[in-house]
Amino acid sequence: MTLLSTIILAAGKGQRMHSDLPKVLHRVAGKPLLQHVLNTANELSTDELFVVYGHGGEEVKAAIHQENIHWVEQAEQLGTGHAVAQVINQLNTNHQILILYGDIPLTSANTLRKLVSAAEDSGFSLLTTKLEEPKGYGRIVRDDNANVLRIVEEKDAVQEEKNINEVNTGMMVVAAEKLKQYISGLSNNNKQNEYYLTDIVQMAVSEGVNIETVVTDSIKEVQGINNRKQLAEAERNYQALQADKLMELGATLIDPKRFDIRGEIKIGKDVEIDINAVFEGGVELGDRVSIGANCVIKNAYIGNDVAIKSHSVIEDAVIGNSCQIGPYARIRPGTELADEVHIGNFVEIKKSTIAKASKVNHLSYVGDSEVGSQVNIGAGTITCNYDGANKHKTIIEDNVFIGSDTQLIAPVKVAQGATVAAGTTVSKDVPEESLGITRTNQKHIKNWKRPVKK
Ligand code: UD1
Ligand code: CA
Repeated sequence: MTLLSTIILAAGKGQRMHSDLPKVLHRVAGKPLLQHVLNTANELSTDELFVVYGHGGEEVKAAIHQENIHWVEQAEQLGTGHAVAQVINQLNTNHQILILYGDIPLTSANTLRKLVSAAEDSGFSLLTTKLEEPKGYGRIVRDDNANVLRIVEEKDAVQEEKNINEVNTGMMVVAAEKLKQYISGLSNNNKQNEYYLTDIVQMAVSEGVNIETVVTDSIKEVQGINNRKQLAEAERNYQALQADKLMELGATLIDPKRFDIRGEIKIGKDVEIDINAVFEGGVELGDRVSIGANCVIKNAYIGNDVAIKSHSVIEDAVIGNSCQIGPYARIRPGTELADEVHIGNFVEIKKSTIAKASKVNHLSYVGDSEVGSQVNIGAGTITCNYDGANKHKTIIEDNVFIGSDTQLIAPVKVAQGATVAAGTTVSKDVPEESLGITRTNQKHIKNWKRPVKK
């Protein structure tokens, strides 16, 4: 078996993005373009991996976390052939070299596998596609027997060549030894005064090499990103693929076009996802989970039979089985809800554990708290966890009832079975099975005159 090295060209500036950010760091599904390409390369069992960087080099390196990359600088961008030349002395001569672009994010590993095996015999394969509007791309020039002769760049093409609709995607596989030889023979004698990688095709042909092609009909897979419009298209294309995968696994998506995954999602059976849900990081949904419209869920584990109602935001949290969350709930990092917990509208839970079957149904803030089971927290309850310098803990034991509009000044504990009367400011621990109340007596001022408008 031949060994494979991959070179990712990522030195281009990306002028048309009009951005301070290097082009390959623009994101699709929350991940840099270059990261998508790297992930695909990783799927291919690449033995060695080279990334040619130029613009914003340090920024690019800092954004990509992968140990086995050989970073190679191309200080001046003198063309794709020049970019490959920067790596050429580091290539292992008995490897096949796969060349990818850092700004083509959606190529599938499968397509690249085909490209790699196409190069097995002749040592040279090209990934091409046919476009109705081929303008701007290098064209694949073939002879009468459909053998590839060369690639001509748009700017160097005569009209007849411009009419060719088969284009170079840029991706190719070449045997390392040959690549070395060809690259050393490149010149920049062309309209753009660039060293064109594409010129090596003609060199190989003149040596009698048969250039194999893999012609893909998936334009999405080979679409490069040059501007913000193409970036947005790539985002939708990527999301459409994710949506298809989820539906194949059995999820109901109310509208696959209004659904976004920016990370990884695992789902159980009969999951239903309403419109405009956004999933980030690692998310796991159990069986029969339903996600309402406009929810954002990030790094969360959600158990079976959970209903997340519309407009809820969940981050870094664990939600047990049969919980009900929202609408308009915010579950913040460090929250763990046991089974059958209900969190209602305008409730914020932060870094707290809530045990089985407890309810916080309306307008409350529970932070840095340990809440037992079968607890009812009334509307407008606030754990005052922060004194301006430090965070303090609130402990609410099993079977506690907290009346509405209660403040719990942490650190404080409400022991099991206790009741806190509505409107109470709890600043001392409440003993078990007792009533805590801080209400002042109600009085009445007779004949009270409200101010009247003049
Ligand atoms: C290139 C191909 C063209 C093909 C098109 C597909 C050449 C000469 N032309 O044209 O046949 O149809 O891609 O998109 O190869 N890069 C560097 N260093 C450089 C120049 C480019 O790293 O000096 C990188 C860019 O970051 C980019 C890729 O190479 O990822 C392609 O460069 P780009 O300038 O976009 O090439 P095109 O002119 O579009
Ligand atoms: Ca391009």
